[in-house]
Amino acid sequence: AQADIGLIGLGTMGAALALNIAEKGFPIAVWNRTTEVTHRFKAEAGDLADRVIPTDSLKDLVAAIKTPRAIILMVPAGAAVDQQLEALTPLLDKDDLVIDAGNADFHDTNRRSEGGLPFHFLGMGVSGGEDGARHGPAIMGGGTQADWDRVAPILTAIAAKAEDGVPCAARMGDAGAGHFVKMVHNGIEYADMQMIAEVYGLMRDGMEMDAAAISKVFTDWNEGPLQSYLIEISGKVTEATDPHTGKPMVDVILDQAGQKGTGRWTAIEAQHLAAPIPVIEAAVMARNVSAQLQQRKEGQDRFGIAPKHHGFSPTTLEQALIAGKILCYAQGFAMIAAASEKFGWTLDLPGIARVWRAGCIIRSAMLNDMAEALAQDPSRNLVMAPFFADLLEKAMPSLRQVVSEGIAAGHALPALASGLMWFDMMRTARGTANMIQAQRDFFGAHGFKRLDGLDDPHGPWGMGR
Ligand code: 6PG
Repeated sequence: AQADIGLIGLGTMGAALALNIAEKGFPIAVWNRTTEVTHRFKAEAGDLADRVIPTDSLKDLVAAIKTPRAIILMVPAGAAVDQQLEALTPLLDKDDLVIDAGNADFHDTNRRSEGGLPFHFLGMGVSGGEDGARHGPAIMGGGTQADWDRVAPILTAIAAKAEDGVPCAARMGDAGAGHFVKMVHNGIEYADMQMIAEVYGLMRDGMEMDAAAISKVFTDWNEGPLQSYLIEISGKVTEATDPHTGKPMVDVILDQAGQKGTGRWTAIEAQHLAAPIPVIEAAVMARNVSAQLQQRKEGQDRFGIAPKHHGFSPTTLEQALIAGKILCYAQGFAMIAAASEKFGWTLDLPGIARVWRAGCIIRSAMLNDMAEALAQDPSRNLVMAPFFADLLEKAMPSLRQVVSEGIAAGHALPALASGLMWFDMMRTARGTANMIQAQRDFFGAHGFKRLDGLDDPHGPWGMGR
């Protein structure tokens, strides 16, 4: 046996990850369900082919790896993972380690970690798409510290490095913790993308800017506080021309968003945790509405499209997006804190922000500041950290203006508006739930607490008492 590690599943992400591992000096044994794919992978590995050991069966794969073995699984999340684990069971020793690097549902990872597999198991979230996997992804691990430590030299070698040189690979906690953090990453990814799309809509439909002009705005923003991968690629996609028609590429793409489910899982899990993440929920809802092409067309035919003309300065839009982004991340980190408590994971919030600084899809300059703010006091909501409270104070009037005027002009701004609503609720010490409590007590004698502390939990409605 000569391989330091094995990998199962040479799809786009698996192949890129395997080349990254080989490039960092680790001989890797690979296996794919279709043998031809495995051999083609070796043939196309170029300079790295020496470190790639193709195998034709799982038995050969296992035999090619030094013991105790480590094997990365990069197969579609769900049943395929369970099938592979089952197929590996008779072949592996109890000291071997299998790492699920797909976008697994963290509940599945919990089940697999605790379900008595006869070998060690890590769940690992990998972000950054194909390019990230090939040249440096962000890696979020879940499992025991000892198992993580065994493969950490390889994982930190292949991971992206933040500005300060720190690798974006870390163990988040036990069992499903890594896949949980990756799931919230994806929820935030949905929200970041949706808020950018909303601002794009204001420029396209409100200000009647063409794609080239919009591209320039995104490109400018990428030099400022919004500097991030998603803003950068937004500048690039709006700049591109369709080779078939010569039109701007974005103008010929159907307005129907795909989704594989991780954003939806985040929203569902947030409800279980009673963690408010309205910006992410709005982003998931917006993808669902986008899929209803026919209904939207019928809606427009019946009700007419609202007049949308409305101008904002790019600076106002930039400030609104800054505010929306801070609110969204504040919600996401608070959800992670809630999960940490519920699942007993002791998740390291600043550590998570640090892992997200490079390699992943939501990487951005702001995550540096978030890591610092969370390090000062991880138990405080991000919006209360002085640095972000100051930024918000400056940016909130723009968000309020963009949402209120944008909505008045007929623009759909679900994510930005949800951020604003959450903010207004969060800074209202005397809210309106006293009314809810009165109603609950009226129809069901559910009881309430009084402001004055008097111990009389029911109102004088004379029902159910
Ligand atoms: C990443 C991404 C990735 C995700 C795609 C597609 O971090 O690299 O989150 O894991 O699968 O972005 O997600 P949707 O198909 O749900 O948009």
